[in-house]
Amino acid sequence: MGAASSAIKGRNQERARLATAPRRCQKPAALTETAPPRPRRFLPGGPLKGRIRVPGDKSISHRSLMFGALAVGETRVTGLLEGEDVMATAAALRAMGATIEREAEGTWSILGVGVGGLLQPEVPLDMGNSGTSTRLLMGLVASHPITAQFVGDASLSKRPMGRVTEPLGQMGAEFSGTTLPLTERGLCPAVPITYRLPVASAQVKSAVLLAGLNTAGITTVIEPVPTRDHTERMLSGFGADLSVEEASGERVIRIRGEAELHPQTIEVPGDPSSAAFFAVAALVVPGSDLVIENVGLNPTRAGLYDVLRQMGGQIEELDRRDVGGEPVADLRVRHSALTGIEVDPAVAPSMIDEFPVLFVAAALAEGRTATRGLDELRVKESDRLAVMAEALRLAGARVEEREDGLVIDGTGGEPLPGGGPVATHLDHRIAMSMAVAGLASRSGVEVDDTRPIATSFPQFETLLDGATASLPA
Ligand code: S3P
Repeated sequence: MGAASSAIKGRNQERARLATAPRRCQKPAALTETAPPRPRRFLPGGPLKGRIRVPGDKSISHRSLMFGALAVGETRVTGLLEGEDVMATAAALRAMGATIEREAEGTWSILGVGVGGLLQPEVPLDMGNSGTSTRLLMGLVASHPITAQFVGDASLSKRPMGRVTEPLGQMGAEFSGTTLPLTERGLCPAVPITYRLPVASAQVKSAVLLAGLNTAGITTVIEPVPTRDHTERMLSGFGADLSVEEASGERVIRIRGEAELHPQTIEVPGDPSSAAFFAVAALVVPGSDLVIENVGLNPTRAGLYDVLRQMGGQIEELDRRDVGGEPVADLRVRHSALTGIEVDPAVAPSMIDEFPVLFVAAALAEGRTATRGLDELRVKESDRLAVMAEALRLAGARVEEREDGLVIDGTGGEPLPGGGPVATHLDHRIAMSMAVAGLASRSGVEVDDTRPIATSFPQFETLLDGATASLPA
């Protein structure tokens, strides 16, 4: 460890010793609960035309801030997603000593404290709606000598944290419970472990690897089913000693602790999960021909686009290139006659956030689409199987909910009847998916609350209104 980070570590240990439990323990209002619900009826409009650019990738944005906060020196980021979830990460890292400043739209500067240098937060860390902030930051806190209180909104407070408290507990961290609000007491030095993921979760993988950053020795995560690999790619870019090996069909990821991270210049590619709403909208609204620029197509994230092509979707990749170490392309998407398919459960991790909008595509396809192996969807921002089944039925679709998937009989391209109000349960992706369903309906679809959209895609409605502004052909 370098002299600068040892000095910071010493100062921090002293502060941690002096610190009493969090001083201001009042739960602040969670981010999306401060304003009244904002309902909207999404009406059928013109075809989607022109070129749009979606905001930066949410997963990469969170990690840019976190890894920048742990590097010694200044990390510069362009294309950062400025949604509420990422802002929750920024606020928490500031509360633990990092200096994070916005210089222009999407352009941010982060002055890190060094691995081991996070400070005792004086306030509870308000995670809002963000599972990624919560689980990854719990990993960071686990191997620092600090105590942090995590709070969140009603949706986040229902989500399971046992999946991270269990391995982080093995490393020595202590937790007051397995749902938010909870208090975590980190341990320094923590104990390196070898952990085999019992669920396919990039958040759990990342939490353990991040705890391993400040833990002497080698921390190992075994991943039987590959999940998004941004943590591995980016930590290597920041100079961590991290290796990935394939053994008996599993990925074995090892990180050497007490790492020294070097500041980086990061260009965040567009979020394929945000582009997904526009891709499906262009496929299902007649006459559409839309280019979505700068879409990240990391193979661990791009499953939806393959599935949509299997359904007959015309999605062309233009100008494939590399942005910030990630494959990127502009996607040209044209209205297409979609056909129902059986979706291979093996692709689920590479499109885990895209199922709500895939269900909308299925509701407008010819024939039956069947999905299975999707138990994880029940523990996202909402129970996405139950909530999408109910929402699509309200819009007039034919949907059967099974334990681990939905079976949908599509209209064959006819618009859905429309209806609502659809309950979004503080889930941004339900709101945006049903907005897309509204575009392909006769009478529109009413969404009970559009506020949660700001967690991941604040510009969604403006972009949608712009792309559909032309008159129906
Ligand atoms: C994410 C991982 C996924 C995904 C989430 C972002 C990440 O969660 O649903 O939106 O950035 O690591 P799980 O790890 O729970 O599958």
